[in-house]
Amino acid sequence: MLLEIDDIHVHYGKIAALKGISVSVEQGEIVTLIGANGAGKTTTLKTVSGLRSLSSGAVRFDGRDISRMPGHKRVLAGIGQAPEGRGIFPGMTVEENLLMGAYARKDDSSKELAEAYELFPRLAERRTQAGGTMSGGEQQMLAIGRALMAKPKVLLLDEPSMGLAPMLVQQIFSIIQEINRRGTTVLLVEQNAQQALQVAHRAYVLETGRVVKSAPAGELLDDPQVRAAYLGGASGENLAPAPDVASADSDTASADSDTASADSDAASAKSDVATAETTEESEED
Ligand SMILES: Nc1ncnc2c1ncn2[C@@H]1O[C@H](COP(=O)(O)OP(=O)(O)OP(=O)(O)O)[C@@H](O)[C@H]1O
Ligand SMILES: [Mg+2]
Repeated sequence: MLLEIDDIHVHYGKIAALKGISVSVEQGEIVTLIGANGAGKTTTLKTVSGLRSLSSGAVRFDGRDISRMPGHKRVLAGIGQAPEGRGIFPGMTVEENLLMGAYARKDDSSKELAEAYELFPRLAERRTQAGGTMSGGEQQMLAIGRALMAKPKVLLLDEPSMGLAPMLVQQIFSIIQEINRRGTTVLLVEQNAQQALQVAHRAYVLETGRVVKSAPAGELLDDPQVRAAYLGGASGENLAPAPDVASADSDTASADSDTASADSDAASAKSDVATAETTEESEED
């Protein structure tokens, strides 16, 4: 077992956010956590990376109990995280941002840099551009690329598809599969449950701080309860991300393009939410 989250309880002040979460991740897997807003997905990842401390339970990684290990040491131990809300350095160039991901390593990082550029050609094109002027989707790629620079054994991804245009969503999920194929274990948090379950080996469903279900991802795709709660309905393949997309289906091409712009509005609104959340959290922390 590469990563074992064992009955962790985490509090924000008096509020219990995690009420006994257990999740295990084997070497080589993609494991996904799905669940509604506020279920505790981000908190779980933060507890693994050391941004939150636990009240009870344990996190074990690579055979060691890391429950009390400071976050920067967890990075060195092999836990990489691309945080929700991205958290890139706006005034640094794309390349400087990537190199920051490797700053704690003593060895040469040119191989990882080349690999990041290979996975994300857009970053290679923009290597001298300031991180803060990259588009939302590009910043998301940069955050993932930067996390990979530390050569993590496990990569924690919090909503990598958030705020991305539909075409980029597909692309980011393929890239996650490619990262995994190249040997990195992945723990993936996603609102986009359909796609997450399609790329993951196993999945856990979280509800208000508890795991309510865990199974091979393919099984959950067919699970009627999961379909009803997280996949937008009882049946149907590749469910649309927003209800107005589905209802525009039978309409003409012009209705289609309206849908597309409505969609990207929704996406940018969502990423604003993410930014607000990050700000609030960093104040609290
Ligand atoms: N900094 C904080 N201070 C107080 N409560 C918090 C804080 N961060 C999270 N919480 C609470 O902890 C619970 C779990 O939040 P968490 O962010 O882990 O949920 P999530 O599953 O990631 O949700 P989302 O899908 O909306 O990102 C929520 O009830 C949330 O309100
Ligand atoms: Mg979250």
